Amino acid sequence: MASLDTLFEAAKSIQAKAYAPYSRFKVGAAIATPDGRIFAGCNVENAAYPVGSCAEAGAISAMIAAGESRIAEIVVMGEGEHLVTPCGGCRQRIREFAAPDTPIHIAGPEGIRKRFTLDELLPFSFGPDNLTDR
Ligand code: THU
Repeated sequence: MASLDTLFEAAKSIQAKAYAPYSRFKVGAAIATPDGRIFAGCNVENAAYPVGSCAEAGAISAMIAAGESRIAEIVVMGEGEHLVTPCGGCRQRIREFAAPDTPIHIAGPEGIRKRFTLDELLPFSFGPDNLTDR
């Protein structure tokens, strides 16, 4: 298992690479897989605003491209004093590859601020079982 410190540092260093010229709000996300591999992503905005993508989406794409498909833990790091919890769409993206008790750590530059489980952020969620258990 990757240490939380390592995951935090991965989120922090990729946050600095975010392309966010429109919102000026940089986000970094780092996923640890069950065997300790780490995949990170940052938000990538676009002049056509809705086409921009979130940090969590980038981290998930990197994980899938590497042949992994389970999220053991994730750190999301944003700017400002508020907790930067994953947006609604990203909660659903994470849900596809995580379990109800998967930890989602919300961080600021100084460190981890709060820990949620996926089920706390996305209760009574829709997922792959809805489509297979019919
Ligand atoms: N953003 C993320 O990358 N992840 C989230 O979960 C919340 C929002 C990005 C999208 C956009 O580039 C910027 O933050 C402002 O909304």
